[in-house]
Amino acid sequence: MAAAAQKPPAAAIASAHPLATQAGHEILAAGGNAFDAAVTVSAVLAVVEPYSSGMGGGGFWLLHRAKDGFETMLDGRERAPLAAHRDLFLNNQGEVIPNLSINGALAAGIPGQPAALIHLAEKYGRLPLKQTFAAAIRLAHEGFLVDDHYRRMAQWRLDALRQSPSAASLFLVDGDIPQVGHNLRQPELAKTLELMVEQGRDGFYTGRVAQQLVAGVRANGGIWTLDDLAQYQPVERAPVRGEYRGMTITSAAPPSSGGVVLLAMLNMLSHFDLDGYPEATRKHLLIEVMRRAYRDRAEYLGDPDFVDMPIEQLIHPLYAAGLARDIRLDRATPSKAPRTKPLMSEGRDTTHFSILDREGNRVAATLSINYPFGSGFVPPGTGVLLNDEMDDFSARPGVSNVYGLIGGEANAIAPGKRMLSSMTPTFVESAEGVAVLGTPGGSRIITMLLHGILALQAGGGPDAWVAVPRFHHQYLPDEVQFESGALTADEITALTRLGHQLKPLKRSYGNMQGVYWNKNKGSVSAASDPRGVGQALVR
Ligand code: DON
Repeated sequence: MAAAAQKPPAAAIASAHPLATQAGHEILAAGGNAFDAAVTVSAVLAVVEPYSSGMGGGGFWLLHRAKDGFETMLDGRERAPLAAHRDLFLNNQGEVIPNLSINGALAAGIPGQPAALIHLAEKYGRLPLKQTFAAAIRLAHEGFLVDDHYRRMAQWRLDALRQSPSAASLFLVDGDIPQVGHNLRQPELAKTLELMVEQGRDGFYTGRVAQQLVAGVRANGGIWTLDDLAQYQPVERAPVRGEYRGMTITSAAPPSSGGVVLLAMLNMLSHFDLDGYPEATRKHLLIEVMRRAYRDRAEYLGDPDFVDMPIEQLIHPLYAAGLARDIRLDRATPSKAPRTKPLMSEGRDTTHFSILDREGNRVAATLSINYPFGSGFVPPGTGVLLNDEMDDFSARPGVSNVYGLIGGEANAIAPGKRMLSSMTPTFVESAEGVAVLGTPGGSRIITMLLHGILALQAGGGPDAWVAVPRFHHQYLPDEVQFESGALTADEITALTRLGHQLKPLKRSYGNMQGVYWNKNKGSVSAASDPRGVGQALVR
C-alpha cells in the first residue's frame, strides 16, 4: 500500500487522566476526528486536573492533518496584560518581590486556552462544541473524585488556595484538603463552559464572564482590563523541524523554547557515535549538549512577535557542529556564572496528551496554568482558576524563576507579550513510523523529550520512552539533577570525576504521554508515564 494512502489500524489517546482519555475516545467513536478529541480532552482535563491546566491558562497544540500533511502549532499561550511593564515584579530597589509572580492575580497572564479550543474546533474539528464540551460540562456539574495526586498538589499550594476565598471554597473543604473519594463539583465552571458553547469566544472574552474575570483580578491586586480579554487571539505558527539519524522531528516553535532547544541538542549529539562510548561517557555527552542548548535559550529566546531571534542559526547543523567541537570527553565544561536559587518545582502539574485517529490525524498538546493550581486565585463567579504564567518571564535579567531558569532582554515583560515556555509537544517520523509525545515538567520538559526520542531511536516503543529514568542539566544552576535509578553508582563516580555536580532528586518528575504508529508493522501502541495516574488507550 502506498505510504500516503496508509491509515492507522486503530486510534490512540494517551493523557494524564483516565476520564480525559475515555472522553476523547467517545468523541472519536461519535465521528469526531483527532482535533475534536483534542478539544474534548483539553476541556475534560481543565475540570478533572484543576492543578494542571484549564480555561484560566494556555498551551500549545501541535497538529498534523492527514489528508494533505499540513502541520501547524496552535499557540494559545497567555499574554502579559496591556498594563504590564518590565519591572512589574520589582520593588523600589530593583529587587524581585518574592512570590508576586507566583501567587494571586498579578501572577496571571491573559488566558489563551478558551480561544485556542474554539479555534481548533471551528477550523479543524467537525463536531460542535456542544458535543465536544459535553463531557467536561457534565463532570463539572456532577463532580469527579479526589485522589492522592490531587491531595499532593493541593498540599503544595495550600497557602495560596487559602488566600482566595473562591478558590478555597472550590478546591478545599472547610479550608483543608479534601479526602480521597470526595466528589468535587464545579458548577460555576460548568456555567462558564456552557456560555462558551452558546456564544463561542464571547462567552469567555466579552460579556458576563469577562466582566467577572476583570473585576475579580482587579480586586485582588491585578491589572487586567476588558481590552486585554477582547484582544486576545490564538496564533498558528509554523513548527520547527529538524533531522536526527534518519528521523524528522517536528516540534514547538517560539514562544516555546522547546523545539529549538530540542533540535539544538540533537544536532550536537549527531556529531558523536553515542553507542560507541561507555555509558558514563554517553551520559556526560548528553549533559554537555543540554548545558549548551539551555545557555542559548536564556540568551536568545522569547516571543517571536516582540523579538528577533536567530532561530535558523540555533537549529542549524553547522552551528551545532561548532558547539559540539568544544565538548571535551575528559571533563565537564563549567557554566561559569553565579549559582541561581534552588528549584522550587519537581512537579507533574501542567499536562500533555497525544492523539492519533484512524485517518492519521495527530495532535500533541501541552497545556498549563504553570505552578500546581496556578496562581491559586479564582475570580468570584467564574469557576476559572487563573494561571501564574507571568513567572515564566524573566522578572529581572539573571534572576531565576521557579524552575531555576534565567533569561534576559528577549524574555523581559512587555505589554501583550507572550512569556517564553518550555512546553514541547513533538512529532517524530522515521521510515518505520510516527511518534506523538510530550510531557509537563517545567524547565525539564525539553530534556525529557530528548530522553524519550533517544529511547525511540534505540528501537523502544512508547512504554520505553515514558519510563526511561531521567537526568537533566539546564546550564544554570550548574548541576545534574537526576531521578533515582537514572545513574548507577559507577556512573556517579565517573561523572563526579569529570567535574559534574550531581544532585539526586527526592521525587521523580514528568508525566509523558506517547503514541506510536508503526507503519511497517501496521500497529498502534500508546503509553502513559508510570509516574502519573494517566491512561493510554488504543481502540
Ligand atoms: O510553559 C512552561 O514552560 C511552564 N509554564 C510549564 C510548567 C510545568 O511544566 C510545570 N510542571 N512541573
